[in-house]
Amino acid sequence: MATSKQLQFPAHGATALAARDGLAASPKRLPSWLFYDEAGSALFEQITELPEYYLTRTERCIFEAYAPEILRAAGPSLTLVELGAGTASKTCILIEELLQRQSRALFYPIDVSPTALHEAVNHLGRLFPNLRVNPIVADYTGGVEALTRISGRKLVLYIGSSIGNFEPDDSIRMLRRIRRNLRPGDALLLGTDMVKSQKVMVPAYDDAQGVTCEFNKNVLARLNRELGADFDLDRFRHVALWNKRCSRMEMHLESAVAQAVFLPDIDMDVSFAAGERIHTENSYKYTTEMVDAILRDSGFRLEHTWQDRQKWFGVHLARV
Ligand code: TRP
Repeated sequence: MATSKQLQFPAHGATALAARDGLAASPKRLPSWLFYDEAGSALFEQITELPEYYLTRTERCIFEAYAPEILRAAGPSLTLVELGAGTASKTCILIEELLQRQSRALFYPIDVSPTALHEAVNHLGRLFPNLRVNPIVADYTGGVEALTRISGRKLVLYIGSSIGNFEPDDSIRMLRRIRRNLRPGDALLLGTDMVKSQKVMVPAYDDAQGVTCEFNKNVLARLNRELGADFDLDRFRHVALWNKRCSRMEMHLESAVAQAVFLPDIDMDVSFAAGERIHTENSYKYTTEMVDAILRDSGFRLEHTWQDRQKWFGVHLARV
């Protein structure tokens, strides 16, 4: 390990490039994919079970209440595809209902993580003998291209409010790319977190147990692990705030004191003023008007929206 590091100094892997770029920028930023190494993915799993993190639980409730309606609206003889499927835990509810309506079904979970897909295949195989699961390991771009090779009438699931982590322009680009790879009659099921009181949204990203704080700081821990950096995690604060103008929750890491950090593997010194922040993530919150607009801009037609009673989360069926 040490020798290969010496051979390629300064380090030029993805983490190195992201750190060099983002920590030299003003304001400082780090890309959100840095959250999801093994430690970060485990922390995110914990986040989805926190009492304050209503998103996962609320979307699951909507599926439980409306799966028959959703699948009836989507149409007969469906092949299911899920973008960013992970372990496809919420999808079970829709699959169970699908298999009430048709005797056999095909499911294509698409994800970057082979481990998560492996778990999905095992779990779903045991639960549903009449389901054929064809996992596809791909990132978003590759996954969307794979859609053209899947035959039959498709229902593409893009749930979990993943669209909310894209900038508005990128979200439309992403939906357009999905749209281009679908055929008339195919449908998209999109999950979005909705605008609501800050009193609900802020704690979802700043929980009492501090799991989200640890998740955010894992980005710095990762730079320590992968680039030999000396970030002192106790000298940074997790900040979650509602930006009303941009309709998004923002996550930052704020330097508690004036300090300098050294990243030896990329030979970089970074200084922080007291209170200076690194912007790590945005999570956009939608109104139904905003959902309607991004779908229309990308060539879809919004057919129906299902929501929980408090209207905290939305599941939208859109047609090509
Ligand atoms: N996709 C998740 C969301 O926007 C990611 C997330 C949850 C997150 N909690 C976080 C990102 C805290 C950064 C910090 O809801």
